[in-house]
Amino acid sequence: MHSHPEERLIRPAKNILGSLRLPGDKSISHRYGMLGAFAEGVSRFTNFSTGADCASTLACMEALGAKVRRCEDCSVEVTGVGGQVTPASAPLDCGNSGSTMRMISGLLAPQQGRFTLIGDESLSRRPMRRIEKPLAAMGARLTLTEGHAPLTIEGSALQAIDYTTPVPSAQVKTCILLAGLQTAGVTTVREAVRTRDHSELALRAFGAELTRTADAVCITGPQKLHAIEAAVPGDISSAAFFLCAAALFPGSSLVLDQLGLNPSRASLLDVLTALGARIQVLDLEEKHAELVGAVHVSGPEEGLGTTEISGALAAQLIDELPVLAAIGPYTSGGIRIRDARELRVKESDRIALVVKNLRAMGAEVEEFEDGLDVPGGQTLHGATIDSGGDHRIAMAFSVAALRAEGETLIQGAESANISFPEFFRLLELVAER
Ligand code: S3P
Repeated sequence: MHSHPEERLIRPAKNILGSLRLPGDKSISHRYGMLGAFAEGVSRFTNFSTGADCASTLACMEALGAKVRRCEDCSVEVTGVGGQVTPASAPLDCGNSGSTMRMISGLLAPQQGRFTLIGDESLSRRPMRRIEKPLAAMGARLTLTEGHAPLTIEGSALQAIDYTTPVPSAQVKTCILLAGLQTAGVTTVREAVRTRDHSELALRAFGAELTRTADAVCITGPQKLHAIEAAVPGDISSAAFFLCAAALFPGSSLVLDQLGLNPSRASLLDVLTALGARIQVLDLEEKHAELVGAVHVSGPEEGLGTTEISGALAAQLIDELPVLAAIGPYTSGGIRIRDARELRVKESDRIALVVKNLRAMGAEVEEFEDGLDVPGGQTLHGATIDSGGDHRIAMAFSVAALRAEGETLIQGAESANISFPEFFRLLELVAER
């Protein structure tokens, strides 16, 4: 999606009150969209992500022969290619989406044909060796451009492998599983930290068999996928901005219902609880093995405390770290983040941008190669925020702005469209002025 640079003025709020239902989870929508387009039959997904990233996945799959129909109620109907894609004549444009590029590479590597994958400026800077290495070990022919996109795949039959991911990454794990799905033999992916398991759950929902142990996933190929009907749970990484905003205000009350609460994604609730926020989870149910429920959050009268996020927790919370860092100054004891080097190779260098923007708001902060220390007990001042075209930076600092003194101008606010086009409208809805 190419939208024009946009600025948004965020005024301080007095409280956060209300009840919201959020659009579908981005990670799950990518997987449902990709698998539905690859499966046999017609799949239907309600509450599909409204973000540009998942639109990139659907557009790539359409270019590969799937049919996609968008209905007015935010549902999407996908007619799959039955396990065999049509090579696209033009390059497949993954836009800003690392998930699209890394996961689709695994899907295409065992297919017949030649495929070229491109992305926007940010995606073209992101590391792709992490998928080249395992796919090459399977015998795939992949050509990168100095370790990055554009990348070209000459599809061919592959060999199963047993691979340990050097950096915890659900995208890399998925890439290998999608190649393994179409490859004779047992493909095993081992990971030191258990990353989000939506691919494992989605593959099973579409009829594939796979086995899991504490640190490994095994898939025996080849297997066929069958269409499903599914409701996508609300996106907990989008919810993170609202949960953190509510946690900042004593007496706040916010309910988010139909929210995805997959345990590999929900550590934010534990961190906010450790910081002192009051959190209740209600109406838990399972949908295609994904946990869904309502979350009620309110900010503590005494204010937020202190916490450290490191080790496995840092990997599991990787998308939520910018907003947690951005509210760090408002805690009493600060927020310390370590083992989060991966933040530097996301849509932007998120450590550098969080540090730069916290300083722009007048905060004291110390930068480390793999994280940052944000001391507590600080007052922030309205400032001009450089989002770097990164959706999570734009939204994280919109939350920090709610308790700042004075108004904050978010530059590159249109980047929120990547994952959460409704963000600013919903923020206005729950922010009491
Ligand atoms: C995602 C995995 C994470 C995350 C990204 C979405 C996914 O990336 O940061 O926003 O849907 O699998 P990595 O796999 O690179 O850790």
